[in-house]
Amino acid sequence: MECRITKLIVASAGWLLILLFGTSSCYYDDYETLYGNAGACDTAAVTFSQDIKALIGQNCEGCHNGMSANGGLILSGHQNTSAAALNGSLIDRMTRSAGDPLLMPPGGALSDCDISKLRAWIIQGAPDN
Ligand code: HEC
Repeated sequence: MECRITKLIVASAGWLLILLFGTSSCYYDDYETLYGNAGACDTAAVTFSQDIKALIGQNCEGCHNGMSANGGLILSGHQNTSAAALNGSLIDRMTRSAGDPLLMPPGGALSDCDISKLRAWIIQGAPDN
């Protein structure tokens, strides 16, 4: 009797484990299947007003504005941002390897997609669009 109960518990625990972990590797690890193309990086129509302004605002401007211009760099507004973009300093600092003290932002590199968007905008000539 005791043995039967033990077997039952082991069997149930087994099912529980399969339910919890067994199914998770079936198709949830295929990003494309789950989200289709939503995860793709669209750099085709990057503009300053729609993409770059927010990207710089969220990740850089807190330390690079008129009140607090770390390294003497202000990244508020199109004129300041495009100047730093076109002279190469933004991409240079954003693509340094992890652990390099010159990497920007200091907390860790932005996503490849964000960097690709910035590059796409710079290739257009960093316009105020
Ligand atoms: C937490 C604060 C902080 C954030 C966020 C930050 N920076 Fe900086 N940045 C600094 C500091 C401090 C320096 C000066 C030290 C140095 O040169 O590394 C600096 C320097 C720089 C310089 C060199 C300026 C020069 O002419 O010497 C560039 C370019 C730069 N940052 C770009 C960026 C970009 C682009 C982002 C966003 C992707 C960013 N930073 C986000 C703090 C920050």
